[in-house]
Amino acid sequence: MPDKTRAKLGIVGYGSMGSNHARSMAKLENVDFVAVCDLEAEKLDEAKQAYGVAVYADYNEMLAKEDLDGIVIATPHYDHVPISIAAFEAGVSVLVEKPLAADIAGGRKMVAAYEAGKAQHPDLLFAAMFQQRTYGHWRKIKELIDQGALGKLIRATYIITNWFRTQTYFDSGGWRATWSGEGGGVLLNQCPHNIDIFQWLVGMPSRVTAFTSLGKYHNIEVEDEVTAYMEFDNGMIGHLITSTGEAPGSDRLEIVGENGKLIFENGKLTFFRTKESVLDLIANSPERFLHVEHDIEEITYPEPTTGNHIGIIENFADALLNGTDVIVPAPEGIGSLELANVILLSSLDKRTIDLPLDGEAYTRKLQELIDNSKFVKPDVKSVDDDMSKSFQ
Ligand SMILES: NC(=O)c1ccc[n+]([C@@H]2O[C@H](COP(=O)([O-])OP(=O)(O)OC[C@H]3O[C@@H](n4cnc5c(N)ncnc54)[C@H](O)[C@@H]3O)[C@@H](O)[C@H]2O)c1
Repeated sequence: MPDKTRAKLGIVGYGSMGSNHARSMAKLENVDFVAVCDLEAEKLDEAKQAYGVAVYADYNEMLAKEDLDGIVIATPHYDHVPISIAAFEAGVSVLVEKPLAADIAGGRKMVAAYEAGKAQHPDLLFAAMFQQRTYGHWRKIKELIDQGALGKLIRATYIITNWFRTQTYFDSGGWRATWSGEGGGVLLNQCPHNIDIFQWLVGMPSRVTAFTSLGKYHNIEVEDEVTAYMEFDNGMIGHLITSTGEAPGSDRLEIVGENGKLIFENGKLTFFRTKESVLDLIANSPERFLHVEHDIEEITYPEPTTGNHIGIIENFADALLNGTDVIVPAPEGIGSLELANVILLSSLDKRTIDLPLDGEAYTRKLQELIDNSKFVKPDVKSVDDDMSKSFQ
């Protein structure tokens, strides 16, 4: 553990998100923001001007020359894999943007490289930027589920369609919404946060049947609408509905258990708490029709003082300096990537998929999509707008 008060950090990928992280890092008292790597000279000039950091066009050179404690990776998804692996081989910790990778095989390679690096450097960290895990409502729901307040879980349904995007958004980056540049659409770009929260709260399903529409609302080749049906080993069922083509969108999570249901919608968390176990009533009530008595409670929860992206970076630095637990260990966040891949594969192959996913088979499928792509990306139009509008 370094004996100092600021973790020495660099950023790889100084685009919309990377420059946002740079602003956070420059503010944080436990971060010494020293280096930026990007492929574009203009972006490197910008970073140098704004923060006086050392700049590199090659991440390997940055890893070799700077004595970094950690890097934040904010490149397009495919590059997360080789950059993380190079960092772990150099003994440098990683905070990677979501999704961890475009395919689960890539994600698993990152975790394997982390495990190998950790054998050499026991303090090595691998964290993921799933900033929604800092949000008070998700933390409260997690606490209630873990305490067993709902009892046996019966159903979890997440309708998350407030990821509305225009064609201008998709035309603003050459890699966006293409099989070769991104490996998927809403499942990989907008929804990973929600899929991560879903699997964090209720665990991973064992079977998935899903339907997606490719380029239904936008001139893109990847999915912009998704409906998934999930079956869990414990008998619970789950649903995920997401879209980038709906407005006004919904953000509604229902988790039903034998002791009632939790609903989170429009910033409000409500617990419909039954007075008796519904499963007991089903099995033992002498009545044929029953009004199941329940209380309706508004649940309050504290919001963290430093949440969101900056909170995740502050926590990463704190973990590097003081050995604190990282909020989202990346090997755990990998579930959201597997689920995204499974949902897409199920819809493309029109069949139910069992988990764990055969990663190599999925990668072959993705490669087929890349090889057979006839989609021609319109001219990229760079748009300089407020990135914070993109966050939930
Ligand atoms: N956590 C969040 O809320 C959130 C929000 C938006 C984007 N993201 C994620 O952040 C990542 C980047 O998205 P973005 O919107 O900032 O993209 P972007 O296109 O605006 O920026 C990507 C940057 O990476 C650079 N780059 C590409 N390959 C590189 C390489 N090999 N080495 C160094 N630099 C390289 C590009 O030149 C570009 O400047 C994606 O994985 C995306 O999913 C996360």
